[in-house]
Amino acid sequence: MHQSMNILLTREEIAAAVARMGKQISEDFTGQSVVLIGVLKGACLFLSDLARQIHLNATFDFIAVRSYGTKKTTAGEVQLIKDVTTPLRDQNVILVEDILDTGLTLTFLRKHLQQHQPRSMKIAALLDKPSRRKVPVEADYVGFKVPDQFVVGYGLDFNEHYRNLPDICVLEEGEQE
Ligand code: IMP
Ligand code: MG
Repeated sequence: MHQSMNILLTREEIAAAVARMGKQISEDFTGQSVVLIGVLKGACLFLSDLARQIHLNATFDFIAVRSYGTKKTTAGEVQLIKDVTTPLRDQNVILVEDILDTGLTLTFLRKHLQQHQPRSMKIAALLDKPSRRKVPVEADYVGFKVPDQFVVGYGLDFNEHYRNLPDICVLEEGEQE
């Protein structure tokens, strides 16, 4: 199955990028605490590694959305299916997402979480596909900018599969539907 996939980013490259992002976050929030909010399910692996590279007082929460579209892209409407339970008022929130693609998901989540009146809100995205953006949103911390190819692994899925691959791979055309 996945043997025929081409590796785009190795586990070593991912670990180096995650360490760099954690170091930057630790420096930016020195002396403060942060709440990491992972977008289920894709950001789970990234959040668990990123959290261990953040040397601050940190707590976690998770949020989940459903987006309508094909198996590969967000069409337009994003719906909340699981909200956070942590009080976010006056907290430094870091929204942790696997990939920033059209931007519809993070635009929706940023607006939703702003209602909780956090002190600050930043976005950490492991991957960024800037060429696919439909709405203007940028991440504050980005692991890698990637071309317009569908990728899986390290939390990213195709139809719920491949999240457990340790490397990030390009899903070949023949395997897509
Ligand atoms: P956006 O709302 O279009 O920015 O989409 C973000 C969501 O789309 C991510 O959380 C992923 O679940 C999914 N997504 C976008 N591109 C890819 C990809 O290349 N592989 C796997 N999932 C993707
Ligand atoms: Mg997904």
